[in-house]
Amino acid sequence: MNLQATVPIHMPVLLEEAIEALRVQPGGRYVDCTVGLGGHAAAILERSFPGGQLLGIDADPEAIRITRTRLRPYGSSLVLVNENFAHLECICSRYDFRPVHGILFDLGVSSYQLEASDRGFSFQRDALLDMRYNPGQQLSAADIVNNAPEAELADIIWQYGEERFSRQIARHIVAHRPVTRSLELAQLVAQAVKTRGRIHPATRTFQALRIAVNSELQNLRAALGGVPKLLGHGGRLVVISYHSLEDRIVKEFIGRESKGCLCPPGIPQCICGHRPSLRPVTRKVITPSPAEIEANPRSRSARMRVAEHI
Ligand SMILES: C[S@@+](CC[C@H](N)C(=O)[O-])C[C@H]1O[C@@H](n2cnc3c(N)ncnc32)[C@H](O)[C@@H]1O
Repeated sequence: MNLQATVPIHMPVLLEEAIEALRVQPGGRYVDCTVGLGGHAAAILERSFPGGQLLGIDADPEAIRITRTRLRPYGSSLVLVNENFAHLECICSRYDFRPVHGILFDLGVSSYQLEASDRGFSFQRDALLDMRYNPGQQLSAADIVNNAPEAELADIIWQYGEERFSRQIARHIVAHRPVTRSLELAQLVAQAVKTRGRIHPATRTFQALRIAVNSELQNLRAALGGVPKLLGHGGRLVVISYHSLEDRIVKEFIGRESKGCLCPPGIPQCICGHRPSLRPVTRKVITPSPAEIEANPRSRSARMRVAEHI
């Protein structure tokens, strides 16, 4: 099906690798927890034809609206849900969508959202400091930047941005409040960061604020928790992440779910009763090829992990 040229662009990252890792097959049933503009979703629908079904979730109503139009040719094979994937288990129960053959997460922000002139995700485009995936949510980046105490702002920038100049940045922001626009914030951060590296000085601060605004790490943990109950035997979990904080959560989750007893060392008899539910399919992360990075530089930080339900 030709789906080109109808909508804004997001080039799906690790597309072939993700479809192969999910082992998409005709008649299969899949969940795309971050359907975005439907790049991965379209490929899953193509390869699962005939009889395949896809449940696509996104917190962003605009992404759902665009994808609903774009993937209309797939008819009732696709169900789109505008919700937070933190409620994955609940959503699947509501749609009677379990067990499934595969679950995909392609985390973070899409190019479409980054480039939108009114979302405030980018330090290169002037917009109100928003950064919400779901505009119906109350908390925005402006709320955090203008209301958080200096120490809390520094902690957010340190923890979620792994930014070593977090304290200087927080101090400088607080001294210049109120800060309402993304370019204004980017400029303040650049002034506070004394050194110049490979990446834009505001990269880490913007990442930190986006993670905080959208509770990204908490939502990922909540969603992963439901995965073992949703996957059928041999079903695959595929997660593409874009920074080490997300990747660590995924790695630790798969590690824990691959183990039996989780009791602390020294306990003579198991009291946790934990049984392994997943096995890692690849020990190492899968990363984009040099050719993909050249064609789509935004893919360069992607890391994919795959696990199978046992
Ligand atoms: C990298 S994009 C996915 C792109 C998609 N794979 C494609 O090919 O078009 C990530 C998407 O996840 C969505 N998202 C991020 N966190 C979410 C959450 N907690 N719940 C639901 N959607 C979320 C964003 O709104 C964004 O559209």
